[in-house]
Amino acid sequence: MAEHLKNEPSDLAAYWMPFTANRAFQRRPRMVVSAKGMHYTTSDGRQVIDATSGLYCVNAGHGREEIAAAIKEAAYRLDYAPAFQFGHPQAFELANRLTALAPAGLDHVFFSNSGSEAVDTAMKIALAYHRQRGEGQRTRFIGRERGYHGVGFGGLSVGGVPANRRDFGTLLPGIDHLRCTYDREHQSFSIGEPEWGRELADELEQLVALHGASNIAAVVVEPIAGSTGCLPPPKGYLERLREITKRHGILLIFDEVITAFGRTGYGFASERYGLTPDIIAFAKGVTNGAVPFAGTLVSGDIHAALMTGPEHAPEFFHGYTYSGHPLATAAAMATLDIYRDEALFERASTLEEVFADVMMEMQSMPIVLDIRPIGLMCGIDIEPSARGPGVRGYELLQRAFHDHDLYVRVINDTMIVAPSLIATIDELTDIRDRALGALKSLS
Ligand SMILES: Cc1ncc(COP(=O)(O)O)c(C=O)c1O
Repeated sequence: MAEHLKNEPSDLAAYWMPFTANRAFQRRPRMVVSAKGMHYTTSDGRQVIDATSGLYCVNAGHGREEIAAAIKEAAYRLDYAPAFQFGHPQAFELANRLTALAPAGLDHVFFSNSGSEAVDTAMKIALAYHRQRGEGQRTRFIGRERGYHGVGFGGLSVGGVPANRRDFGTLLPGIDHLRCTYDREHQSFSIGEPEWGRELADELEQLVALHGASNIAAVVVEPIAGSTGCLPPPKGYLERLREITKRHGILLIFDEVITAFGRTGYGFASERYGLTPDIIAFAKGVTNGAVPFAGTLVSGDIHAALMTGPEHAPEFFHGYTYSGHPLATAAAMATLDIYRDEALFERASTLEEVFADVMMEMQSMPIVLDIRPIGLMCGIDIEPSARGPGVRGYELLQRAFHDHDLYVRVINDTMIVAPSLIATIDELTDIRDRALGALKSLS
């Protein structure tokens, strides 16, 4: 605990916490003060297992000394380099490494600081690309219900989480949403990609017929919807989206902010599905969560189309003060080294089956309505309380942390387990046992 901070509401009022029930938090705070491997240490000295890799970002486990050392070295050597019109070597080196890891053909990368920025960047690139090719009327975007693409106006607009959109006006015009691919009746307790639902991709054809392909810039989807509760894509669904978008000259943007860097056993989920979208947004795992950092990978064609105009002028009027920040690039390089040297993506792939089996054992609880494991992530729906949606979920979050030494992300009435790729089988069963303990204690 910081020396002058007491865990009391009066001391906790100034900080307005993101996506948090602030008033309830202040009454009973959940504070962590350090972390190592799979565990947080709390302000009252307990070891709490991290079942969700922080927020799906600490893929190589906490407290990685190699990353800390790289950040420290960068901070002393080059604390900041101007991002516009000047560069520093490591940003270029990192871009080369990331494009080598990405699906073949995604040869260029634009850096930003968060998943939200990476998605908004992707959408701006799509618009600028079409305009540059004389198709400036392609301004419409298609997202998906229950999609989460961050909190910028672009990502919010293609996103489909009602609570996130409700208070913020009309958002971007010209957006449609595909139907969510999840239907409990057809796919409850499926492991991996469900058999049912491929045909939902055909709705894209209907939207194309409605608006005309020549008015549509891009389709934006997460390969596996993450934040909304871990919804794996039906078998063949993403392939069908790729086929339709390609046929109509519509760009396909994959938001891989959660799914990249090993979460599904591959560098990118695109690889799992053997697909190459036109653009990929990534963030989170790229620095193991140690420094805010993100990026947008684009195909050679898109990049080439935008490399025009007078030599002295920027080709793309977009960027962030901290694009390619030296501390972030240092953290990312060290993180990629760890993923490679410890073969963590392969490890995730090896663990996938046992992880699914361990998670499915929670089926024994009548309160559990569905379990959806894929890669090293899993959504577990619990029955909402009669007191309203999200009430029981919040109780679960609290009980897990305070009484069962378990940190787990809970959204509404869905618990999301997404452990670091370093997790041992014992740690996976420990997470399950603690989760079961918390579930049993629910009112
Ligand atoms: C798929 C996806 N896209 C975008 C974001 C937004 O990322 P950030 O919170 O870094 O802006 C998230 C965050 O969870 C995400 O899961």
